[in-house]
Amino acid sequence: MDSQILRQLEGYEKVTTDIEVLKRYGYDYRLERGLAKKYVERFHPHAIDVKVTDIINETNSTKTLRLASKQKYMPPFQAGQYISVIVEVDGIRTSRPYSISSSPDEIAYYDITVRRVEGGMISNYLLDSIKIGDSLQVSAPAGNFYHNPIIHSNKVVYIAGGSGVTPFKSMIQHAVNTGTEKEIWLIYGSKNDSELIFNDYFSKVASKYTFFRYIPVLEEGAGTYKGFITKDIIKEIVGDSSDKTFFICGPQAMYEHLLKELQPLKLKPRQIRMESYGVPADVFSQPGWPKEISQNTRFVIKVRGKKDFTVTAGQPLLQSLEKNHIVVPSLCRSGECSMCRVKLVSGKVYQPEGVKLRQADRRFGYIHSCAAFPISDCEIII
Ligand SMILES: Cc1cc2nc3c(=O)[nH]c(=O)nc-3n(C[C@H](O)[C@H](O)[C@H](O)COP(=O)(O)OP(=O)(O)OC[C@H]3O[C@@H](n4cnc5c(N)ncnc54)[C@H](O)[C@@H]3O)c2cc1C
Ligand code: FES
Repeated sequence: MDSQILRQLEGYEKVTTDIEVLKRYGYDYRLERGLAKKYVERFHPHAIDVKVTDIINETNSTKTLRLASKQKYMPPFQAGQYISVIVEVDGIRTSRPYSISSSPDEIAYYDITVRRVEGGMISNYLLDSIKIGDSLQVSAPAGNFYHNPIIHSNKVVYIAGGSGVTPFKSMIQHAVNTGTEKEIWLIYGSKNDSELIFNDYFSKVASKYTFFRYIPVLEEGAGTYKGFITKDIIKEIVGDSSDKTFFICGPQAMYEHLLKELQPLKLKPRQIRMESYGVPADVFSQPGWPKEISQNTRFVIKVRGKKDFTVTAGQPLLQSLEKNHIVVPSLCRSGECSMCRVKLVSGKVYQPEGVKLRQADRRFGYIHSCAAFPISDCEIII
């Protein structure tokens, strides 16, 4: 940078004085150059090249992939965080987030546990095409779905649906491996008992440790609790809820159901932590969706300086961009992390309830492309 401009920067005088003092007392400050960058890259690398070292069959529809780093170092994470798996399938570069299901104290690898989604692009690819020894690229761990002892109670109720149990496996295994002062309930909703992921592990932990109680709630078949998870079941299992923190993770439909069920318990907002497992599968039934727009409605998307293409209503913008070979960085794909922001120059998009857009983004016309559904022709800038 030009030295004239440097002199005008706030703090310039102080920095130059400090450098002179350090030189005088024999400390070679140049040794520190690049140190901060080195640590940032070590703990928050942009991407990690990993190898699949093991594949474990969990249920008929679910497998765990064990991922070890080719660089021999996996950044630390908090139990409950996720990584984004970056892949190219049929010429389309895309990514999907998966919670880490192994415990943070297992430092040599990350496990991800993938359940098949009918017709899903990446879950089927990971389950059917990936073999031991294959290479993948993943993001550094991300997300804030973890226990914070300053804010959260040590009495925690985990409520899971389907593959939403994976972050809880990490949390529970961490508690087992390192010891805990917590009292933990896991209420796990599933279609039937053959679909319960980690059922044997949770049952064993519950029979050995008094801090952990495991309660499957099954839609079909035998079991103490049947149907969906309701306020009555929660009340019966955990008793007084006023001193507990609730962590909820599962498909979008489960949140809508559970938030209604939890209302009569009069929990404070900080007592509920939710991990969103993506945007709603059926956006047409969401509140506020314009009724005149159906699955047959088409719009033109103009990406300034790149290309124009046509989309069908009901697809998130990010997905349409990827299908048209325009890569936008993404992480959570559920409207939370801001990674996939693009500027909406003209046109309208529908953003489901719960999309966390910063005030500044709203003001300057930015949208989260992973959770924005075009409802008119649009022009965007990436
Ligand atoms: C933070 C986070 C953590 C996640 N962790 C896990 C995990 O540990 N294990 C896991 O299996 N999945 C997890 N997911 C979901 C995962 O990221 C993918 O969405 C899922 O694997 C489907 O991807 P796909 O490419 O196969 O389906 P897509 O091709 O993206 O979608 C196909 C259709 O299925 C619907 N759909 C997408 N996801 C689901 C779902 N989960 N249930 C029902 N319908 C769905 C879509 O809306 C679409 O209509 C997580 C999601 C988030 C946001
Ligand atoms: S990828 Fe996180 S907000 Fe879109």
